[in-house]
Amino acid sequence: MQALVTGAAGFIGSTLSERLVAEGATVVGVDNLSDYYSTATKRDNLAQIDSDRFSFVHADLNEIDLEPLVAEADVVFHIAGQPGVRGSWGEGFSEYVSANISATQRLLEATSRTDSRPKFVYASSSSIYGDAEAYPTHELTLPRPRSPYGVTKLAGEQLCRLYAATSGLSTVSLRFFTVYGPRQRPDMAFTRFLTAALTGTQIDVYGTGEQVRDFTYVDDIVDAVSRAATVDVAPGSVYNVSGGGSHSVNEVLDIIEELTGRELNVRRQGSAAGDVARTSAETTAIRRDFSWTPRTDLRAGLQSQLEWVRGVLARA
Ligand code: NAD
Ligand code: UGA
Repeated sequence: MQALVTGAAGFIGSTLSERLVAEGATVVGVDNLSDYYSTATKRDNLAQIDSDRFSFVHADLNEIDLEPLVAEADVVFHIAGQPGVRGSWGEGFSEYVSANISATQRLLEATSRTDSRPKFVYASSSSIYGDAEAYPTHELTLPRPRSPYGVTKLAGEQLCRLYAATSGLSTVSLRFFTVYGPRQRPDMAFTRFLTAALTGTQIDVYGTGEQVRDFTYVDDIVDAVSRAATVDVAPGSVYNVSGGGSHSVNEVLDIIEELTGRELNVRRQGSAAGDVARTSAETTAIRRDFSWTPRTDLRAGLQSQLEWVRGVLARA
């Protein structure tokens, strides 16, 4: 398999690329190394993909001619994006529009123009649900994002559906639920909490800490993403991908205290704009159609992220 992975230097994209080459695929990764977080961290992520079958194109999806890249691929994994719920308000929004909507439209357009018509797998998000009408939340639940970020991820998903309907593209959108594990972004909760636990610095908890997430280990996410390349599903399909547990931020802090043996220095802050009270996914569809199941529970996943954070701190 020849794969194009966008966002290949990021948390999920680099983990996916590493897995695809390990499975025997040839992968072209593209990423603009955006400065949302340290580009050195992103270069480190790329350096872990140690294979002759991986090549990297340093480019912005909104600037380059995408057709030659797409034409070579059997499957396009569109993982690039501007992530982060809390930073999507105010002036930062234009970056979300550019990275999550415009780049997705350009990539879909390029894909629809190639003769080979590769499969198109899109990294969507649980944030499209907002405070959902029902839990666990089914894919047919009315989307009503609570953050500008969620609006842009939903727009990207709708573009996939539209190109499937009008150009016959084989698109699949996967709604990832809060992903964690080694290489998790530095703005996300677990990397922040584990780093603070090991360095004895302060942990800021937004709101009561009783907000609940259906946290998903990154290896389970990339397993689902890689299966999306070969499953035979209707163009324009949408699937939830989640770890299957419901844990509050306070529960996570308790586990971190146990795993590290350190007393945490927690300060309660006001709740963050755009933060939903709960996420919880109905995953019957992906389990049935992808023969997929999540394999890593929260405690084991946190332990492996802890080891990774230890390594990062030791090298710093
Ligand atoms: P990340 O920031 O680590 O990775 C995204 C990568 O995309 C970055 O390396 C960035 O440089 C690149 N990128 C951004 N704009 C680009 C552009 N215009 N051209 C080329 N490259 C560009 O984020 P992540 O956590 O790995 O998330 C990956 C994707 O998964 C995103 O689309 C995000 O919205 C989605 N997602 C993530 C989570 C999560 O919990 N991490 C949950 C749901 C959905
Ligand atoms: C995450 C990703 O950051 C988004 O890119 C993604 O789209 C989204 O998951 C998703 O599932 O769609 P979030 O759930 O906010 O968003 O993930 P974290 O940043 O790990 O936060 C988890 C919880 O911890 C949130 O309630 C947040 O408010 C809280 N938190 C985070 C803190 O209390 N303190 C912090 O320092 C960071």
